[in-house]
Amino acid sequence: MKHFNASCLERSAFQTDSGHLFGFYHNAAGGMNPQRCLDQAEPGERKHTLDLTPKMACPFSVVVAIDFGTTSSGYAFSFTQDSEAIHMMKRWEGGDPGVANQKSPTCLLLTPEVRFHSFGFAARDFYHDLDPEEARHWLYFDKFKMKIHSTSDLTMETELEAVNGRRVRAIEVFAHALHFFREHALKEVKDQSSSVLEGEEIRWVITVPAVWRQPAKQFMREAAYLAGLVSPDCPEQLLIALEPEAASIYCRKLRLHQVIDLSVQPLTNGFDLDGSRPFDSSFRQGDRYVVADCGGGTVDLTVHQIEQPQGTLKELYKASGGPYGAVGVDLAFEAMLCQIFGEDFIQSFKAKRPAAWVDLTIAFEARKRTASPGRANALNISLPFSFIDYYKRHRGQSVEAALRRSNMNIVKWSSQGMLRLTQEAMNELFQPTIINIVKHIEELMAKPEVRGVRFLFLVGGFAESPMLQRAVQKALGRTCRIIIPHDVGLTILKGAVLFGLDPTVVRVRRCPLTYGVGVLNRFVEGRHPRDKLLVKDGREWCTDILDRFVSVDQSVALGEAVRRSYTPARLGQRKIIINIYCSATDDVTYISDPGVRKCGTITLDLPEPLPPAGAAARGGGGGGGGGPERREIRATMQFGDTEIKVTAVDIMSGRSVRASIDFLSN
Ligand SMILES: Nc1ncnc2c1ncn2[C@@H]1O[C@H](COP(=O)(O)OP(=O)(O)OP(=O)(O)O)[C@@H](O)[C@H]1O
Ligand SMILES: [Mg+2]
Repeated sequence: MKHFNASCLERSAFQTDSGHLFGFYHNAAGGMNPQRCLDQAEPGERKHTLDLTPKMACPFSVVVAIDFGTTSSGYAFSFTQDSEAIHMMKRWEGGDPGVANQKSPTCLLLTPEVRFHSFGFAARDFYHDLDPEEARHWLYFDKFKMKIHSTSDLTMETELEAVNGRRVRAIEVFAHALHFFREHALKEVKDQSSSVLEGEEIRWVITVPAVWRQPAKQFMREAAYLAGLVSPDCPEQLLIALEPEAASIYCRKLRLHQVIDLSVQPLTNGFDLDGSRPFDSSFRQGDRYVVADCGGGTVDLTVHQIEQPQGTLKELYKASGGPYGAVGVDLAFEAMLCQIFGEDFIQSFKAKRPAAWVDLTIAFEARKRTASPGRANALNISLPFSFIDYYKRHRGQSVEAALRRSNMNIVKWSSQGMLRLTQEAMNELFQPTIINIVKHIEELMAKPEVRGVRFLFLVGGFAESPMLQRAVQKALGRTCRIIIPHDVGLTILKGAVLFGLDPTVVRVRRCPLTYGVGVLNRFVEGRHPRDKLLVKDGREWCTDILDRFVSVDQSVALGEAVRRSYTPARLGQRKIIINIYCSATDDVTYISDPGVRKCGTITLDLPEPLPPAGAAARGGGGGGGGGPERREIRATMQFGDTEIKVTAVDIMSGRSVRASIDFLSN
């Protein structure tokens, strides 16, 4: 049992010297709730906060969207004057045999002095051509986006490890990549624009997986600030878009001739439609659909309804998915190599012959894309000479002998120096990833909110895979129509541009988590547990009660707000800091319940209070306005956007209060 000796004030909240905040608040409808007190942690130290205090609207004449993918990234843009035309980025260099795509590999190369060297094909190829001795000093990063998803305590200090083992702050790695895109996009936009463009005329959009949590989204925003994409003083110049949501924005406009409908077509890419099913008209009426973004790193699912007549989108179920992207197939291939040649050998080969390893992954990538369920013959993957040679030196025997010894009957050796992967072997590489994807879509389709949905859009690079297409069609083809847009790998990018042009197109979203703060309520014997009892000035309080702002899977419309009022504790207090808690379920009562964790803080920077009208300044610590208990700071939180936003106002003076929300300091 804890004891406090400060008293709660009616109709206000205040911060004590011990750092606790007691308070009362307005509910979402704006009414005053019965007396409650808020728990409060010590003020935070860090200053990298997401500040979304309203500023003057920036006039945008261009929208540039960046799709920062796990395996490949790209940008596209559109001039607001001519928003029908979406310009895809120009290929700046390179390309791989057997791989046609307008995105570049997400690879970054830093010099031994940790300065930017190159990005994309250029980075990969330069690194590839370095002398192995020299390469050990360079910092090469690929597939680094996965780390952001897998790190549970992401902060500004989280590090990434380059191939050579050196560690760099992840925020810097992302900022280097974004800065590269900034330079390229700006140049291309300026080349295409007839007028002189100022930096602030550009609205930037960065896509992130819908399943990313607030810290990861804020991380991307901070990286964009660091990269100089936008200034933190103009936060609304940058939008964080959700990948499947962006795809959905694009998909809802698709016409029959722009899609492949798996239910009416054989399973190959690039064929013509017979047009026997009017996708258009039935889709517009059918108006509820699932979008599955099957990327390299994640599979991300969103369910939308098109609202008539405006054509806006309403999310029907919270975003779901997980790390089941196509790199799972690459990892399975690596695991297979380890099984045949030994894990220690593969690790040593990767470290000692990085260039040859890159060659091998490129060779596999091209073959992976031709894998198809209908294929009878084996797929050949050339083993680099360096692999064969290194194995011989390392193990004293040939790779052929290793294969024989491994009893891997599904992988054969071709005398031309190639691994021959039988259809069975390819299946084994794809199945674990594909099974996970299908399982997730099936689980989503079984939810009451989603049941009866008749359309499933498969988008993202992996959606091009006939292996995945066949598996999804087999599992779900009887339940719904499976639609694959042409240019399936670019749907997210195009949709992200459309989102930047009109972010209000998604009108209603579902909350991914329950959010709230800890408060004190009057203690009720029999209802509240004794270990939550707190006695203060002879009154009994129950501590740690979770005051919900929003509940998981709750529908929240854009612009819908949750309001709470707070009053500073002391005269001259300059800051109120409030802890935010979250939970994946809604059946929680206390902030100490299992599954509830502190996930962020709200900071209200209090301006100097104005002296009361007509009174001479009383001096001394800014206690004007009749004392701190009367000073009401109203915080307004919005949960309907892709990011959580907070604004605040000093009620008495009507002045806005600098309010920020931070999820990266935990
Ligand atoms: N025809 C194909 N068959 C199999 N896999 C494919 C095919 N085409 C593309 N892929 C895979 O799709 C992935 C790239 O897709 P995409 O560009 O959508 O991912 P990303 O945006 O980089 O990743 P994420 O969105 O998860 O961060 C790569 O792993 C690639 O191997
Ligand atoms: Mg992607």
